Amino acid sequence: MIFSNNPPLSLYIHLPWCEQKCPYCDFNSHQAKGFDEQAYIRALIEDLQQDLPLIWGRPISSVFIGGGTPSLFSAEAIHQLLSDLRACLKLNPGIEITMEANPGSADESRFKGYREAGVNRLSIGIQSFDDSSLRNIGRIHDGDQSLAAFDKAQQAGFDNINLDLIYALPGQTLQQAMKDLSLAIELQPEHISLYQLTIEPNTLFYNRPPDNLADDDLSWDIQQQAQRALANAGYLQYEISAYARQGRQSRHNMNYWTFGDYLGIGAGAHGKITLGGEGRVMRRTRSRNPEAYLKLQGADRITETRELNEQDLVFEFMLNALRLVDGFDLSLFKQHCGLNTDILNPPLEKVIHMGLLERTINRLKPTALGLQFHNDLQEIFLDVDSRKISAITIDTDFFPS
Ligand SMILES: C[S@@+](CC[C@H](N)C(=O)[O-])C[C@H]1O[C@@H](n2cnc3c(N)ncnc32)[C@H](O)[C@@H]1O
Ligand code: SF4
Repeated sequence: MIFSNNPPLSLYIHLPWCEQKCPYCDFNSHQAKGFDEQAYIRALIEDLQQDLPLIWGRPISSVFIGGGTPSLFSAEAIHQLLSDLRACLKLNPGIEITMEANPGSADESRFKGYREAGVNRLSIGIQSFDDSSLRNIGRIHDGDQSLAAFDKAQQAGFDNINLDLIYALPGQTLQQAMKDLSLAIELQPEHISLYQLTIEPNTLFYNRPPDNLADDDLSWDIQQQAQRALANAGYLQYEISAYARQGRQSRHNMNYWTFGDYLGIGAGAHGKITLGGEGRVMRRTRSRNPEAYLKLQGADRITETRELNEQDLVFEFMLNALRLVDGFDLSLFKQHCGLNTDILNPPLEKVIHMGLLERTINRLKPTALGLQFHNDLQEIFLDVDSRKISAITIDTDFFPS
């Protein structure tokens, strides 16, 4: 692998506790039964020290405090966390610092404290404004709290807000899904993330699926109408689930989707770091269980350090970049994987032939079909060995004409 420069570097911080575990959620989140926020902040900073020798001199381009429910942490704790980070890391001027918040834990003075601590982008997990839909997915807030959370965030001085919505909820009709979306649009947030409910292994919904889940036709209809409504309201779709007003794309997530580098600290967090001078790309993972993470010390919190090989790099790059509606420049593949683009020729031939990807001289862009079947598209890059690629088959009868 040959790198002319290291990619941009961002920082992800995982705060793993929630008031209650949602039945659809497979994130590393755990019901809070009383936790010591000070001890966790100390552990995070100690954890960060392990990665510093790998990134000396590199500035941080964005920070994302995710969870779990980071808004369970007090404003003082977040202030402490960000001050300690500033003491160890060079943060770019004007850096985007996002934090996730749940409507149930929204409190204006707490939000003000986060803003004063330096958080400048808030991502609120609304999911729905409809009380019965919220109950059906085990949320502990109601529609009024969803609306109030946005208001409180604005009152606290946030002018860069994302709202997370989920559609195809159990029992949800097309009209209800569109009502949720139009309520979100009326609030005029800078960003909307619109996810289709997925039933993930290791969740309560996987073991006991609700009997009134949306079928493929209804999900498709909601998605199509939602895309039109968002476009009409001035939200540009730039990734499969992400819509933003002009210039308000999530810089942090764009770094993932363009296969930038990131440090990941906190329980279960993982990072990707390019050591350009050595021609290597490393992945690091932290101990997943919050209690174990707290008890462990220093390097013992790192459960895995792994060097990515060529196949890993191709697949992981495509896993991310093929989510982008405008696709990517081939030079980005060279810069962020350190590989020659020739390695892509066999799979590219296949996906272009299947109508999943378009190629101009220097650019690759998923077609509408490719975006719809992005899992199938990504799968073709799972193994760049050309002999194996010809053996991968996809049931194209399933593709709509
Ligand atoms: C890390 S989660 C948590 C944010 C916050 N704790 C909350 O739930 O409000 C980020 C987002 O992923 C989405 N999400 C989580 N599980 C999902 C699933 N199974 N299907 C679709 N979207 C999901 C939700 O919209 C959620 O707000
Ligand atoms: S509040 Fe968010 S992170 Fe926590 S369990 Fe629910 S969806 Fe998962």
